Amino acid sequence: MPLIEALPKYGHYINGAMIPPALGDYFPTENPYSGEPWALIARGGKVDVNAAVAAATCAFAGEWAKLTPSRRGKLLRRFADLLIDHAQRIAEIERRDNGKLAAEVVTQMRYLGDYFHYFAGLADKIESRVIPTDKQGVLFCYTRYEPKGVVAIITPWNSPLTLTSWKLAPALAAGCTVVIKPSEYTSASTLEMAVLFGEAGFPKGVVNVVTGFGDEAGAPLVEHPDVAHIGFTGSELAGQKIYQAAARGLKTVTLELGGKSANIVFDDADLDQALKGAVSGIFSASGQSCQAGSRLLLQSSIHDEFVHRLVALARQAKLGDPADISTQIGPIATRPQFEKVLRYIQIAKAEGAVCALGGKARPDLGQGQFIEPTIFTGVDNRMRIAQEEIFGPVLCVIPFEDEDDAIRIANDNRYGLAGAVWTRSLQRALMVTEKLKAGTVWVNNYRATSFTAPFGGYKHSGIGRESGMDAVREYLETKCVWVSTDLDVANPFIRR
Ligand code: NAI
Ligand code: MG
Repeated sequence: MPLIEALPKYGHYINGAMIPPALGDYFPTENPYSGEPWALIARGGKVDVNAAVAAATCAFAGEWAKLTPSRRGKLLRRFADLLIDHAQRIAEIERRDNGKLAAEVVTQMRYLGDYFHYFAGLADKIESRVIPTDKQGVLFCYTRYEPKGVVAIITPWNSPLTLTSWKLAPALAAGCTVVIKPSEYTSASTLEMAVLFGEAGFPKGVVNVVTGFGDEAGAPLVEHPDVAHIGFTGSELAGQKIYQAAARGLKTVTLELGGKSANIVFDDADLDQALKGAVSGIFSASGQSCQAGSRLLLQSSIHDEFVHRLVALARQAKLGDPADISTQIGPIATRPQFEKVLRYIQIAKAEGAVCALGGKARPDLGQGQFIEPTIFTGVDNRMRIAQEEIFGPVLCVIPFEDEDDAIRIANDNRYGLAGAVWTRSLQRALMVTEKLKAGTVWVNNYRATSFTAPFGGYKHSGIGRESGMDAVREYLETKCVWVSTDLDVANPFIRR
């Protein structure tokens, strides 16, 4: 175990500089594979939050506001290229901090370059509208889309930089300034990324990062009167607390709160492809993914054979060191999450679900934060394991009879983030797609997301959309301007 005091220290990134926390406190961040702390993170509080919001407020009114949208876009492009140059290095930091597979995280980091390029391009394409009016003497009426102001970005540990960028890129394209509060488990990559904004030539204070815990640093950030909007990804519970605090301040929010997505396989599907989709749907990122296909709905006629093949395929998964390119399933990112997943496995057994694969921790690997790919059959959709987000490598298999049955089961859940339908019938695919209460539906694939495509949830999965043109809207206010040429107001006491 390394000496805690000897570990590298990360401060907050405020007004273009790394600064130590006001109270001088740090906490260790761990590598979930080795189980060892590898860096110290500043434990921020209200004083640090106030400094960061002040810097963002000042930048919003200052140099940043003077830049043309095209110039903003140019800076974003420069940042995007820098991020691609640093992708490998930052990917390694992220992998060390949350146990994401090296094979996956490097690709993800490079892709973020494309993500920022897309929003860089949008910066000068936020066009106003001229509105026809019915008022005499009004020459024209037009809209202006103005940045909301200082945006708080609060993120979880599963895909730290991806989920940060989903908010950061559109917020900056819109002309907002930001204060990011990354997850207390995975703050380092966000700080490393923030420094690159300085290198790219962004004015000081446009991007700030305050680290620390949700109640100590996150809550004062959400409550700060100078924060106009909150972009959040994480648990439903924290999302509700943030929404309540935002309501008190009459702030707007974008919330992405996870899901319990149905992956529906009909008997006319290409079953080889559906099998791969079922595996990647639940087991990639060790199931720690908001869009995981955690409920596999199988038509009764193919149920037994499909389960048989699924168990055989999932059984082959190679668990191990996330740094090893051949590893397919890495550790669970945090200790509390590891314990939560194991608790749900116990709940599943107590509820009478049949464990067809896995169901155990693997203390022989790494420091014990490994859980075997787990498949439960005989699951009734009313069971807790079918209703609640587990956020781990645990799949619930639920049989269905026909289209209506599949739709009923899929929608009988309070979440509505995503879903998929596997079938060769176009008519069936479109019919089911229309009836699913989910923000994303995949037909004959699972998991595709892009900077071009809006992503977000129905029902308890959240509010608002990220990615694509829709995302920029979240960070803009609409102003309506009436321009009159009729200077002669005949009777000022009568409304025209
Ligand atoms: P969390 O929702 O508690 O934390 C996410 C972020 O919110 C962190 O940065 C945290 O510090 C901050 N936060 C927490 N409470 C806050 C508050 N009152 N005000 C402001 N900020 C606050 O998530 P956690 O504890 O890391 O994971 C718990 C569960 O959440 C997981 O088991 C999983 O089910 C779900 N989750 C869902 C994710 C998704 O992508 N939708 C991502 C990560 C977790
Ligand atoms: Mg960590």
